[in-house]
Amino acid sequence: MAAYEELSKEELLKIKSELEAEFEQVKSQGLKLDMSRGKPSTEQLNLSMGMMDVLNSSSDLVCEEGVDCRNYGVLDGIREAKQLLADMMEVPKENIVIFGNSSLNIMYDTIARSMTHGVMGSTPWCKLDKVKFLCPVPGYDRHFKITEYFGIEMVNVPMTPTGPDMDIVEELVSTDPAIKGIWCVPKYSNPQGITYSDETVHRFAKLNPAAEDFRIFWDNAYGIHHLYEDKQDYLIEILMECKKEGHPDMVYKFSSTSKISFPGSGIAAIAASTANLKAIREQMQIQTIGHDKVNQLRHARYFKDIHGMVQHMKKHADIMRPKFEAVISTLEKEIGGLGIGSWLSPRGGYFISFDALPGCAKKIVAKAKEAGLIMTDAGATFPYGKDPQDSNIRIAPSYPTAEELKVATEIFVLSVKLVSIDKILESK
Ligand SMILES: Cc1ncc(COP(=O)(O)O)c(C=O)c1O
Repeated sequence: MAAYEELSKEELLKIKSELEAEFEQVKSQGLKLDMSRGKPSTEQLNLSMGMMDVLNSSSDLVCEEGVDCRNYGVLDGIREAKQLLADMMEVPKENIVIFGNSSLNIMYDTIARSMTHGVMGSTPWCKLDKVKFLCPVPGYDRHFKITEYFGIEMVNVPMTPTGPDMDIVEELVSTDPAIKGIWCVPKYSNPQGITYSDETVHRFAKLNPAAEDFRIFWDNAYGIHHLYEDKQDYLIEILMECKKEGHPDMVYKFSSTSKISFPGSGIAAIAASTANLKAIREQMQIQTIGHDKVNQLRHARYFKDIHGMVQHMKKHADIMRPKFEAVISTLEKEIGGLGIGSWLSPRGGYFISFDALPGCAKKIVAKAKEAGLIMTDAGATFPYGKDPQDSNIRIAPSYPTAEELKVATEIFVLSVKLVSIDKILESK
């Protein structure tokens, strides 16, 4: 099939009327499909049901510290859970603090604490005239919501196939003391599935920030979420890298078991330098007497160690891989060569990122909705919900069943074609 741009007006109108007939046919089915959020499917949640059986009323609930997990105590996580998450996050267990079930919650708390009390003794951000954050785009909508909520000005930095454009990051971070942080999803990024290259990580570790309280917010949510056993991305561990470069305090790492065990009931952690963790614990002891230790114990006993977790992730991959491949192959078959969109084929993570012709993303999402398919709002992958090109759409293939996904992708592709034809016709 020739690229749409090369077709005559008559040819395009003919294709359009055929596609419209197809679209009406799908629409008449009154479908209800959702490709909007990166939620594990029920089948994936079922993989971890054994965790419900590792503890029962006759279990010994005493953790390695000798503390009864049912009671108060152990502020920052039981030893066995720290070991498990430390191995998952590739850091020493001394550099980890376990929180509740959500890493996003830790990120929110981290920003909130920096606003009200500052970072390791520096001026609280709320006392400054301006606080800015760098936001690689497209990125994770909920990161941007947190910084927006606290009135932090967000500055877009374009993503490249090897991570954020580091020329821009270095220039801005080293010259502007109002820049206090950068949001990063360094492995199988949300939404593009990009993993930062060795050079990108080295350049991060070598940053010389103008602000002493600048921190890299390294949200490694998809660190072990590979789709393939033989084709896996590799990410250099940043905490050690920053230490080697003489900037041990410059990074906070975040992760959780949300997409390993249960998103509603996993465990989350922050990893950072000793000095950073000291400041975090000072606040934490005011905030809580400790998080849910029974759940920590459940995770530690169920997975046993990182090897158990890695084995478990292969089962997730077996469910996710065909879904990713189904979406990608439909995109290739239906849209490849038409010149109306581009996408990457990630080797892990939860998303596929689609770039439509400029000015088309909102219309495509609205069109898909007409036929009963909910996509993530166009613009959500950018700060303030504003995609300057109105081009990026996030596809989340995990939740629908294989059958639903097939229909959902067909609706998406039809919507892309119809909206793109209208756009091209405008200039014919
Ligand atoms: C990049 C990223 N970070 C964090 C989260 C949420 O993590 P949690 O469930 O640990 O709050 C998500 C969920 O989609 C995500 O994509």
